[in-house]
Amino acid sequence: MTRTLITSALPYINGIKHLGNLVGSQLPADLHARYLRARGHEVMFVCATDEHGTPAELAAAKAGKPVAEYCAEMHELQADLARRYGLSFDWFGRSSSPENHRLTQHLAVKLWENGFLEIRSERQFYSVEDGRFLPDRYVEGTCPNCGYERARGDQCEECTKQLEPTELIDPRSAISGSTRLELRETRHLYLLQSKLAGEIEAWIDSKTDWPQLTVSIARKWLKEGLRDRGITRDLSWGVPAQFPGAPWEGMEGKVFYVWFDAPIEYIAATAEKAHAEGRGEEAWRRWWRLDEGARDVRYIQFMGKDNVPFHTLSFPATLIGSREPWKLVDYIKSFNYLNYDGGQFSTSQGRGVFMDQALEILPADCWRWWLLSHAPESGDSEFTWENFQASVNKDLADVLGNFVSRVTKFCRARFGEAVPAGGEWGEREKALIADLAGRLGEYEALMDAMEVRKSAAALRAIWAAGNEYLQEAAPWAVFKQDPDGAAAIIRFALNLIPFYAALSAPFIPFTAERLRVDMGIEQLEWPQDVEAALRLLEPGHRFTVPDILFRKISDEERTEWQARFAGRG
Ligand code: 2FM
Ligand code: ZN
Repeated sequence: MTRTLITSALPYINGIKHLGNLVGSQLPADLHARYLRARGHEVMFVCATDEHGTPAELAAAKAGKPVAEYCAEMHELQADLARRYGLSFDWFGRSSSPENHRLTQHLAVKLWENGFLEIRSERQFYSVEDGRFLPDRYVEGTCPNCGYERARGDQCEECTKQLEPTELIDPRSAISGSTRLELRETRHLYLLQSKLAGEIEAWIDSKTDWPQLTVSIARKWLKEGLRDRGITRDLSWGVPAQFPGAPWEGMEGKVFYVWFDAPIEYIAATAEKAHAEGRGEEAWRRWWRLDEGARDVRYIQFMGKDNVPFHTLSFPATLIGSREPWKLVDYIKSFNYLNYDGGQFSTSQGRGVFMDQALEILPADCWRWWLLSHAPESGDSEFTWENFQASVNKDLADVLGNFVSRVTKFCRARFGEAVPAGGEWGEREKALIADLAGRLGEYEALMDAMEVRKSAAALRAIWAAGNEYLQEAAPWAVFKQDPDGAAAIIRFALNLIPFYAALSAPFIPFTAERLRVDMGIEQLEWPQDVEAALRLLEPGHRFTVPDILFRKISDEERTEWQARFAGRG
C-alpha cells in the first residue's frame, strides 16, 4: 500500500482566513487527501496554526490579550472552522507546541554543528519609548519604492517589494507610533544558505515533474543568489533561541524567526498526533525519517505561490543542512491568487468573504465546489457573485441535485421507497456503463495529477451523463405501457446515486454523506468496476427520498450579498 504524507501551508493565527486563503492550500490539500484515502492509500494529512512572529504578537496586542491566550483561542476558532468545512486533517496542530520547540532547537543545533549557522552582529531599530528592538512588522514607514505610507519593515503590502526595516522612509514603531528610533547593535543566528545553494539547486534540478509555477519561482530565487538569513529575532513569543544544551551563547531574550520554525511544525504536528494518541516515537518517525521507514512515503505539499521560496529553498536548507535523514518534499502543488470581485480580498477593509461569514449564508459544499472548480491553477482567478450563483444553481442544483430528486421521487411515486425489481438493462444502459468507465478513468487520472479544475469538470460531466440518460430513457413515459421497463431504468438510475456520492465525496463530502445515509448504504466504496458498482443496490433495497440537496441562489440574494461583502473601502 502506498503511503502519502500531505501538508497544507499553515494558516497564520491572526484572524479568520478568507476564501482565497482557503483555496490556496487547505482545501485542495483536503481534496487530495480524501481522494487518496478513498483509493485505499494510507494518508497522513497534517496542518496547524502558525502562531509565532510579529503578526501573532501584534494581533494579540490589538485584541488586548496575552499572546498565549490569544493564540489558544484563535486556534480553537480555526480548528472549528476547519471541521465545518470538512477539512479532514489527521492532525491540526500548533506551531507553539512543545514538540515544535524541541524539533526546532534540535535542528538548529545540528545546523550549528555542521557549520551552517553562525552568529552575526547587525544594527537594528530600537525604540527608546517602547524599550525594545523592533523586528520586521514592528517598524512601519513610507515605502521607498512606491511611497505607500504604511509599509511594514519586512514588505510593502502595496507594491509587494521585500524590504529591510532600515530602508523605510520616516520609520516609526508599530506599537506606539513613536519615531524615537535608534539603530543599535544586536546579535543574531544566521543560516548560511549560500553554503547549501549548490545542493539545493541539484535537488530542485532532480524534480523534473514539478509544476511550472513551483519551479519558476524557485529558480528565480536561486538565480538571485541564495542569501544567508537571520533566523532569530528580538521577541519574547516563540521558540527560545537560548536553551539548555545550546552550543552558542548570548541569545537570551531572542526567539527563532517564525519562518524558521513554521515548516518544522509539519514534522512536529505529526509528532503531536502520535503523542496525543499515546503512541511511541516510531508512529511519527515512520513518516519523516528515511532511516525509519519514510523511504516508502510520497510527500506532497500544498501552498500559495508566496510560500514557494520558503518551501523550495529555506526549509530544504534546514533539513539538508542538518545532515540527518529527513524526508524532503516530493511534489509541491502551488496556487496563484484568488481575487475578489474586481479587486483583492482585504482583511483590513473587510472586503470579500471570510470563512465564518461564508458558512452563515450557504453550506460548506457550495463553497467547496465553487472554490475547487475555479481553483487559481494556471493564473490568478476571480470570485464574482454572478459566477458563484451560476455554478451553484447549474452544477449543483440543476445537474446533481435535480438528478437525485427526479429519480428518487419518481421511484417513490410509482414503486415506493425501495429499489424496484423487474425488467432488464438494455443497450442504453450498456452504452452508459462503457461511457462512465472511460470517464471514471479520466477523472482518476486528473485527480492523481492534482489537476483540480479539470477534475471538477470531469466530475460534472459524469453527473451530466446521468441526467442525459434519464432524459432519453424517460421512465415516466415508459411506465404507462411497460412498468417493468420503467423499473429497470429506475433501478439503474438509483444505482447511479451511490456511484456519484463516492466519486463526489472528495469535493462535496457533506452531500456525499447525506446521500450515503438516505440511500441506506454502510460505506461509500470507490468503484473498481462500473458495472458491479451499478448493481450495488439490489431490488428491495430501501432508501429515503433525500431532502432538497442544494437550494438555488436567487438574484435578490446575490445582489444583497454583493453589497454586504463589498467592504468599507
Ligand atoms: O503565508 C502564510 O500564511 C504562512 N503562515 C504559511 C506558513 S507555511 C509553513 F511553512 F508553515
Ligand atoms: Zn511599496
